[in-house]
Amino acid sequence: MKDKDKEPRAVAADSLPPPSSAVASSVKRMAEEAVLGFLEKNDEIKDSGDFAAEKGISHEEIVNVIKSLNGFRFVDAQDIKKERWQLTAEGKTYAANGSPEFQLFMAVPADGISRAALQKKLGDSVFKIGCQQAIKNKWAEMGKSQVSRKVAHVDDNVKDMLVKINNGEALNQEDIDALKRRKLISPQVWKGYSVKKGPNYAPKRRKPATDLIRENLQSGEWKELQFKEYNFLAKGFPIEGGSLHPLLKVRRQMQMIFLQMGFEEMPTNNYVESSFWNFDALFQPQQHPARDSHDTFFLKEPSTTKMLPEDYVERVKQIHESGGHGSRGYGYDWKREEANKNLLRTHTTAVSSRMLYALAKKPFEAKRYYSIDRVFRNEAVDRTHLAEFHQIEGLICDRGLSLGDLQGVLHDFFSRLGMSKLRFKPAYNPYTEPSMEIFGYHEGLKKWVEVGNSGMFRPEMLLPMGLPEDVTVIAWGLSLERPTMILYGIDNIRDLFGHKVDLGLIKSNPICRIGI
Ligand code: PHE
Repeated sequence: MKDKDKEPRAVAADSLPPPSSAVASSVKRMAEEAVLGFLEKNDEIKDSGDFAAEKGISHEEIVNVIKSLNGFRFVDAQDIKKERWQLTAEGKTYAANGSPEFQLFMAVPADGISRAALQKKLGDSVFKIGCQQAIKNKWAEMGKSQVSRKVAHVDDNVKDMLVKINNGEALNQEDIDALKRRKLISPQVWKGYSVKKGPNYAPKRRKPATDLIRENLQSGEWKELQFKEYNFLAKGFPIEGGSLHPLLKVRRQMQMIFLQMGFEEMPTNNYVESSFWNFDALFQPQQHPARDSHDTFFLKEPSTTKMLPEDYVERVKQIHESGGHGSRGYGYDWKREEANKNLLRTHTTAVSSRMLYALAKKPFEAKRYYSIDRVFRNEAVDRTHLAEFHQIEGLICDRGLSLGDLQGVLHDFFSRLGMSKLRFKPAYNPYTEPSMEIFGYHEGLKKWVEVGNSGMFRPEMLLPMGLPEDVTVIAWGLSLERPTMILYGIDNIRDLFGHKVDLGLIKSNPICRIGI
C-alpha cells in the first residue's frame, strides 16, 4: 500500500447521499466486523474481491475498511492487481445480438440471396464485417451478385466467448488474442488486496483515546484505555520567513562583481539632491530639457538646498558661462537659484560628482567606485518604465585612462554578467565625451540588447573640481531592472516593482546566478 493510503479515509459510502449516514456507517461496521472476524479464525483473506462476493458486501466498502484498518496497523494489506477483460461497445452488441458473421449466415436462405438484399437486411456494418469473417470461416460463398451457404450449420463461438468474458470466466490465450485483434474486448486492471493480521490486530476496533480526562481517572477507565500514539513524523506548519526581492538578489550579484573587480561602494543614501550636484556639477546647462519639471521631480518642501561649496560653485558658474581650461563654455547667464533647486535625483551620477569633488580635495589617489541605488524620473509609466528605478554605476578615476581602458573594463564587467560580446555606439551625454551606448549579445535571447550608457567625464566637469589635469574618469551606468527582468523572465515591470507585485512570486523566486 502506498503511504497516502495508510491514512484513514472517509469511506466512499459515507459520501453517497441516498443511504442515510446511519445506514452507511452500519454497512461500514459490518464490513469491518467481517474482515476482523474472518482474520480471528483464518490466517489470510487471499483476495478482497472474492471475500466481498462471499460476504455480499460491495468490494468498494471492503477496500475502504481494509485501507483504514491497514492505516492503524490492525491488518497488513498487500496490493493485488489483476488484468481482466472487458467487452468494448462493439463486443457488447455482439454478445447480445450474435456476431456479424453468425447474423450473416442466418440471414442467407438455403437457396442463396442477392448481395443487395442481404446488405439491406443486415445493415452496412454487420454486412461488411459479416462478409469478411464468414469468408474467412468458409461459411459462405460470395458470388458476383449471389451469396450462398457453404455449410449447413454453424455455431456462434464469438458470441459464446464474449458472454463468458462478461461472466468473468477464463478463456484461453488464443481466443483472447482473437477477440483483442477484433477490438471486441479491452483490458481492465482490477485492484484489490490480500490481508493478514497486523501488529495491532484485535478482533474489535476500539477508538483510541487522544486525551486523558478527569472522568477517565474518576471511573478507573484509564486502566483499560488505549491511547492514540504520538505521530512524531507529522509535519509542522511551514515556517514563514522573509524572502529577498529579485532586485535585491540581482543587486547582490552585481555588488559581488564590482567587489571582485576592486571597486568601492559610494554612499547613495540621499534620494533628495540639489540641482547643483545632479546637473550643474556635471556640466549640464541650465536650459537642458532634462531639467524641466516634465522630466524631473522637483521638491516643494524644502524647495532649495542650504549648503553648497561656494568656491567650487563659483568655478562651475565660470565653466558654464565662459569656459576655461581650453573650453569655451556655454556662454549663458548661469543662475544660482536654478542650481539651488532640490529634486529627487535623476541619476546616481549625482553621487559620483560629489565623490569626485571630495577626491579632488585630497592629494590624488586612483579610485574605483560603484553604486547601485534608486533614481527618479517623471516618466509616463508603461510595461518597461516606472517613475523610479535603480541605477548601477561604475567609475574609475586615474591618470591617463583612455577610451580603450573603458572598453576593456566594460568587457570585463559584462563578461562577468555572462555577456562577452559587446558593441559600442557613439552617444551624447552632457557630462561625458566621448560617450558610448553599450550593446551586449544576449546568448539566451539570441540578439543584441542595449545594456548601458558610458563615457569619459568631460574636463569641464573634472577640472573645476580641482582634479589634476592628467586624471581622467571612465564611467558607465545601467539599470538594475532590465537585467533582473531578463534573468527572471518578467516582461512587465509592474510585476517586479510596486503595489501589483505578487508576494508569492517573491517567496518562490530562485536565487540569482548570473554569468555562469
Ligand atoms: N547617468 C547616465 C544615465 O543616467 C549613465 C552614465 C553614467 C553614463 C556614467 C555615462 C557615465 O543614463
